[in-house]
Amino acid sequence: MSEHARVGDLPQVGVEFMDNDHEEAMGLLARVVETLEASRNDHAAPESLRRDLRDFIEHSRAHFRREEVIMKAVHFPPFHIHKNEHDQRLEELVTYVDDLDSGVIGLEDLKDKFLNEFLPWYQRHCATMDQATARYVEKQAAATGQSKA
Ligand SMILES: [Fe+2]
Ligand SMILES: [Fe+2]
Repeated sequence: MSEHARVGDLPQVGVEFMDNDHEEAMGLLARVVETLEASRNDHAAPESLRRDLRDFIEHSRAHFRREEVIMKAVHFPPFHIHKNEHDQRLEELVTYVDDLDSGVIGLEDLKDKFLNEFLPWYQRHCATMDQATARYVEKQAAATGQSKA
C-alpha cells in the first residue's frame, strides 16, 4: 500500500470496537488503493474496484453509525459536529463512485482523491473527533463504574 496509508498511522483510541473498525477500514482502503494502482486510466473501472469501493462504503456506514450510537448513549456534547463529518464524507464517497460510473472522473482522479483527500481526512478524524469521543466514553464509563464499550 502507499506510504500515505498505513494502519500504524492511526492512533489507538482505546475503545475496542472503534480500534477494530479503524483497522478493518485501513485494510479495505488498502485494497481500494491497490486496485486503483493496478488499474489503467484509459480502461473502464474494473468490477473488483467497484466491489472494493462498495465494501468500504458499507463498512464506513456501519462504523459511523456505531460511533453515533455510542455518542448518543453517553450524550457526547459535540455529537452533531462529529456526525456531520461522517455524513459529509459518506456522501463524498458515494459521489466518487457515481462520478466514476458516469465518467466525470477517471481512475487517476479517484486515486488522487482517496490518497490526498479522503485518507488524510480519515487519519485526522481518528486522531481528533474519534479520540475525543473515545476519551469521553471512557470517562463516562469510569464515572458510572461500567467497563468500556
Ligand atoms: Fe471512527
Ligand atoms: Fe468518527
